[in-house]
Amino acid sequence: MALISIKPMLKIARRDGYAVAAFNPVDYASMKAMIVAAQECNAPVIIQTSAKTIRYYGHEALFSWFRPLAENASVPVALHLDHGKDMQMIKKCIDVGWTSVMIDASDKPFEENLKVTKQVIAWADEKGVGVEAEIGEIGGVEEDIVVAEEDAHLADPDDAERFCREVDLGVFAAAIGTAHGYYHGEPNVQFDLIAEINKRTGTPMALHGGTGLDEETIAKCIALGCSKVNISTNLKHVFIDGFINHQKSNPGDYEPLNYLKAQFAALEELFIAKIEEFGGVGKGDVMLAEIQKTEAI
Ligand code: 13P
Repeated sequence: MALISIKPMLKIARRDGYAVAAFNPVDYASMKAMIVAAQECNAPVIIQTSAKTIRYYGHEALFSWFRPLAENASVPVALHLDHGKDMQMIKKCIDVGWTSVMIDASDKPFEENLKVTKQVIAWADEKGVGVEAEIGEIGGVEEDIVVAEEDAHLADPDDAERFCREVDLGVFAAAIGTAHGYYHGEPNVQFDLIAEINKRTGTPMALHGGTGLDEETIAKCIALGCSKVNISTNLKHVFIDGFINHQKSNPGDYEPLNYLKAQFAALEELFIAKIEEFGGVGKGDVMLAEIQKTEAI
């Protein structure tokens, strides 16, 4: 059984100085390619469904794809809800079998954000589900969530410390200067802020807006305490281009399975490259054994 909560997963990643790749699937094949890539790399992986994807397919369909793939995996696999804003959707993820959920109330005042996060933690704790919450506001476009440049703001380290003291999060999404989607200018990542929040909270941090950050920036963020790196936009481009490129090199091919194979191979290549970049290679079986041993005690 390799369905794992992000809580033990990211504690181990933080301790050992690497990050777990978190990808947003858009269909069954992209979800499968994530697990195939993770197994090839012997690495843990986080499959994170957006709210939009859940609304499109429904909780039950997504979980019915995920469960057999993850159960047969030899590496730890988490099913996570990315940027949950709808409390009913979050509760249903916990009830259906997601191993972690994000409550994103970052657009609410601090006290209200804390209050709804506490409610989600109460539901999640009953089922051993990990929770991610956000403070500050991460800019850019993430599915249906649009945060304009003028509304995006960095997390305050005092707030971050207080937030993480009041709730026991599996992972903390503090706004540290990254943004969702491709960057239009130079990303302005606040490394000192990551270091300070990491030191003051002791909680694994999530790096949102992973698409378009160069390797050096990502490596620095991981070294400073980011234990989960999110990639969505990059995947969407590879998903679409996988089809288009196959058509360009094989005009006249109307066998859909050839397109699906080409798309799968392109996605798998991306996932392997990201897992390697974030340092997860070779960490899967040892992490699984460590978590299973702790849970058995
Ligand atoms: P990108 O779309 O920039 O890869 O960001 C993904 C993300 O942070 C999902 O929450």
